[in-house]
Amino acid sequence: PLGPASGSAALSVLDVAHRGASGYAPENTLAAIDAAKVRGATTVEIDVQRTKDGELVVFHDTTLERTTDAEEVFPGRGSYDVADFTLEEIRSLDAGSWFDPAFEGEKVPTFQEALDRLRKHGLNLLLEVKAPVLYPGIEADISETLARNPAWLVPVGKRGKHRLVIQSFDWASVKRSHDLLPTIPHGLLGQVPESEIDDYGEWADQINPSHKTLTADYVDAVHDEGMAVVTYTVNDADDMRKALDKGVDGLITDYPDIARQVIREH
Ligand code: G3P
Ligand code: CA
Repeated sequence: PLGPASGSAALSVLDVAHRGASGYAPENTLAAIDAAKVRGATTVEIDVQRTKDGELVVFHDTTLERTTDAEEVFPGRGSYDVADFTLEEIRSLDAGSWFDPAFEGEKVPTFQEALDRLRKHGLNLLLEVKAPVLYPGIEADISETLARNPAWLVPVGKRGKHRLVIQSFDWASVKRSHDLLPTIPHGLLGQVPESEIDDYGEWADQINPSHKTLTADYVDAVHDEGMAVVTYTVNDADDMRKALDKGVDGLITDYPDIARQVIREH
């Protein structure tokens, strides 16, 4: 079987909280992971990047301005690339207020903190390696962190499902990660050309395109090569139903409670 285990809740299709349940809490924070649990997700998608001093952090944009107060805390820095700030600097930022004042003081989590919180909640992880071209060697850094957290590396349950899938829009990075962690399922974000699906199927486990461009024929073609399709980012209930009609194996959504309901009724 491919893809994350569906945890205690037996859903036919994976319900993946996008950047945590980011419709309800600031994206890629521990609060968003907590919200994913509360809203019934089986799996959480987060993005990982690397600080100037080599620490892995959970963050979506490659710059800090949109989802933190970096410009106020560090005025006049000119650019606000994640890669140009130390972990200590990034940890001094407020990553919650931009979303809602109720989340003031929410921090940018380290990858380790996110792993710990997911484990505490029994949630599976769909890990996106964000912009790996900016972070040479990040696949090895992730692999080393996971080696210190071996529970993420072993399949669980009678069916031997995995708790973790690693994905990226950068397919060369996904291959590097696969070569480092060959027993962990890996996903290709975006739409692999149909003529190349069989080649990628030699080693990849998922192809994860936008729901906007997805067709039932494409889903069938991926399934024919033994891979799963987990589509992003589906926030509208009608769009969720359309994706399910096309045969997808998972929905990545900011609203995992809505997805859960739609999956159950489908
Ligand atoms: O997991 C899919 C989705 O997260 C990809 O897009 O921009 O939200 O990282 P983005
Ligand atoms: Ca992502």
